Amino acid sequence: MKTLTFDSFQDAEAALRQNDLKQALYDEGGILMDKVLVTLHGDEHRTRRTVESQLFRRNFFRHYENEVFPKLLAETLNQFLHVTETDLKELGYRIMVHLSLAFAGIDRIDGSVEEADSQHRLLIQLGQAATIGQYQGDRTAILKEIADALHEFETRFFQPARSRREALISAFQKGELAETELPRDILTILLMNTDKLDMPNELMVREVAFFYLAASHTSVHTLVHAFNELFYWFQGNEGSALDLAGDPAMLQRFVLESMRLHPSSPVALRKAEQPVAVGGAEASIGDRVVIDLQTANRDTGVFGDDAGAFNPFRDRPPRISPAGLSFGGGMHVCLGMNLVAGTILKPGQAIDPDNHQFGTIALILAELLGRGAQPDPQRPAEKVAASERDVWASYPIVFAPDT
Ligand code: HEM
Repeated sequence: MKTLTFDSFQDAEAALRQNDLKQALYDEGGILMDKVLVTLHGDEHRTRRTVESQLFRRNFFRHYENEVFPKLLAETLNQFLHVTETDLKELGYRIMVHLSLAFAGIDRIDGSVEEADSQHRLLIQLGQAATIGQYQGDRTAILKEIADALHEFETRFFQPARSRREALISAFQKGELAETELPRDILTILLMNTDKLDMPNELMVREVAFFYLAASHTSVHTLVHAFNELFYWFQGNEGSALDLAGDPAMLQRFVLESMRLHPSSPVALRKAEQPVAVGGAEASIGDRVVIDLQTANRDTGVFGDDAGAFNPFRDRPPRISPAGLSFGGGMHVCLGMNLVAGTILKPGQAIDPDNHQFGTIALILAELLGRGAQPDPQRPAEKVAASERDVWASYPIVFAPDT
């Protein structure tokens, strides 16, 4: 068995579109990841994805961005932002825990700080399942921690959320409730489609937990990088980051460019189910295929000689997302892409003011900048040392009193 790596934009994109390459990034995280959407293949994947995509019907993104998101964001900031200095990564997690659980279909029960702390802790504990493959030491203790976290997630949060939704769905089926009054989240969709899906309770718990993870860590990673790039940009260019608070369209451009440079998954990993040819190389059955998204996104042949630098005003190559391959491609392309990245315009296309989504990251940034958020000049931000993953360990920020 050999390992092939694709790191040019063209080859990486082509490899992502090969249906005979099967997801392999989470092979060792089966305790949570086994048979969740991103690890399914073929018909099973298609069926589940088709069902879950129903969530996005009927102007979901507009509804989410205009109604759900502002309320959830305000709730989190009112609860946690009583200070003039904080850490952007921590604040990002506070925000994303709340947003991601709402999207996955888990309700707050008493809305307390203790509850939010537990949900944050569970996110970190469960998240270890997605990265356990890279852990070199004895995994016994980690596996036990994940199993305990799954049990707590199920009993404390999932079961009450499931029972509430089952009662609402039953009322809807009896004609006592309009469909528009049902919650719009993944758990509700799964429960509405039990006839099409073969999902025992324990798999539904893990699927909902997976959505919680998939939406949170990636968004926090992106938020902190985008904030950093934004302030760094205005150190060398005219204007001020804080002035962008009222310009979500410009913020969206900054976010997409930052996403291109800092994909939250630097690589996708696949295993060949059949012989597959990509860009002159051939993978035989069983070979590992590494799709290097981070390097592909800095391909000078596609993004220009300064592809490795941050420039939100760079020319857009036709038919290529300004976020590069950061959301993957092909069958597993990110289901939350429009939610976080917003409507992606074609080169030269103007914004339709009545029907444009800016994406949650741009909107969170707009809110924070509007409150005067900026990097703390006294406490420099730090990256995780010895990590190839380009991850911020901490990012202290202050809220300027005069803004
Ligand atoms: C900046 C934020 C995000 C980034 C960079 C990101 C990136 C990705 C990537 C690269 C994949 C493909 C993985 C692969 O091919 O192996 C993916 C899949 C997925 N993402 Fe995201 N994601 C983000 C946010 C979200 C959010 C907010 C949600 C949920 C609302 C979400 C839900 C999913 C799901 C369900 C899949 C699996 C799709 C499938 O297998 O069919 N993601 N994401």
